[in-house]
Amino acid sequence: MEFKFLLPSKIVMEPGLRERTGEHLRELGLARVLIVTDAGVKAAGLLDSVYTSLDKAGITFEEVSDIKANPRSEDINHAAQRYRGMGIDGLLAVGGGSAMDAAKAISLLLTHEGRIEDYEGSFTLTRAIPPIVTIPTTAGTGSEVTCFSVITDTARHYKMSVHDYRVGPVLALLDSHILDTLPASIAAATGMDALTHAIEAYTCRVANPISDGLALHAIRLISQHLKAAVQEPDNQAAREQMLVASLIAGMAFGNADVGSVHCISEAIGGMYDTPHGVGNAIFLPFVFGHNRDANIVRHAQVAYALGVDPTLAPVDAAEAAVGHLFQMSKDLGIPRFAEVKGVREDDFLTLAEKSKQNFSDASNAKAMSVEAYHDIIATAYHFVV
Ligand SMILES: [Fe+2]
Repeated sequence: MEFKFLLPSKIVMEPGLRERTGEHLRELGLARVLIVTDAGVKAAGLLDSVYTSLDKAGITFEEVSDIKANPRSEDINHAAQRYRGMGIDGLLAVGGGSAMDAAKAISLLLTHEGRIEDYEGSFTLTRAIPPIVTIPTTAGTGSEVTCFSVITDTARHYKMSVHDYRVGPVLALLDSHILDTLPASIAAATGMDALTHAIEAYTCRVANPISDGLALHAIRLISQHLKAAVQEPDNQAAREQMLVASLIAGMAFGNADVGSVHCISEAIGGMYDTPHGVGNAIFLPFVFGHNRDANIVRHAQVAYALGVDPTLAPVDAAEAAVGHLFQMSKDLGIPRFAEVKGVREDDFLTLAEKSKQNFSDASNAKAMSVEAYHDIIATAYHFVV
């Protein structure tokens, strides 16, 4: 057996924690930070207590507040150009996966020349970068503890990954109160992203014993709490459990990998700007069904963790899990693939080719061809519940 397991982040969880952001940044020795966030987070007032706490701690800050979903390479390059040489000694990402991935990419460009496109791939960085602190405002991405940054290359309409331990956040501040105003549709999509992380981490070819334990626990937590976290906005306990579950799933896939669900979802996100969690939720049951005979025992373990009848034989449990995943998406109001904005059948071959090019294709439980991707994409398009 061979594996590495890396956890770059100190994790602190406490309701209302963002009011103490300044103290935590001071502890790290930071004096001038770049806040990276999005317009929705800012408009919701989620940053107000962060600003107050930075002022109180004597930390000065600049801010990039226009990060969009599926962050774009041109916006990253532009922000980096603006803040290079401005004495920024740390980044504070407040937002979902897009803000956190953008902060990682901007941080790396503060000490590396060129554009973010130049750093696609694994371990392409050559020097240290300013430390990244994260305050996740959704429960799904896991980006607060991973060494990945996913950025849309606008010229290629392609979601590229930068993977390097240096982009792993040094500190994740989990404040469950920040989820109080999270819209149900975002709670649903991001929660299904977290579930996909856990399932793909457990079933992929590069799983290891530590990621296995984390992944199965995350699947159990998500299957117990996601529906309530979406359908009962005042259920703080359920939303808090989802914040923990998504972080645990991030620790799992960050040290294993994801698989073909993410390959397809990222191809679709790059082409149509589809929210990442929606793309994953749509394709998770199809890929799970396609993969399951490659390792029936592991797919059955996922089924049992999802709450499928534990007395079922592994083959039957894995099959039942496919129906279970379809039902989860339906209950959470996830659209069908044919309902996704902009989708055209003429694009399916390109989508299949882009899925195959994805970094994580090789990790999928079953070897995939362009034809196999095309079949799954076409089947999902014509699928009627
Ligand atoms: Fe994801």
